[in-house]
Amino acid sequence: MKRALLLAALGLASAAPALADLALATSKNCMSCHAVERKILGPSFKEVAAKYKDNKGAADMLAGKIIKGGSGVWGQVPMPANNQVSEADAKKLAAWILLTK
Ligand code: HEC
Repeated sequence: MKRALLLAALGLASAAPALADLALATSKNCMSCHAVERKILGPSFKEVAAKYKDNKGAADMLAGKIIKGGSGVWGQVPMPANNQVSEADAKKLAAWILLTK
């Protein structure tokens, strides 16, 4: 019983930041084209995390692409620029996306 409580507490502690970043992604409209688990218009965030798992510069590169948009990595459909996203938020989102794998 104690163990179950401890596990529940740990689970909540690690889920909380992930939920905060999902809320941020939702508020910045990312989730209208992306989902964590499946492709919509853009790649699933799990696929993105898997693609860049060994790439140390990925977080900065993705933060830049989140703001500026771009195409050609996942197909011909471009991601439009997300000008409403600050650099700090783009970095937060990129780091979160890379942890969804
Ligand atoms: C209008 C639809 C749309 C919106 C809104 C959108 N994306 Fe995308 N996103 C795409 C598409 C399409 C691609 C694939 C682009 C490519 O192939 O290079 C993509 C690619 C990505 C990638 C992978 C980039 C790469 O080079 O591998 C990340 C990370 C990403 N999006 C994050 C976000 C975040 C975070 C937001 C919200 C701020 C967002 N997207 C909003 C459509 C969208």
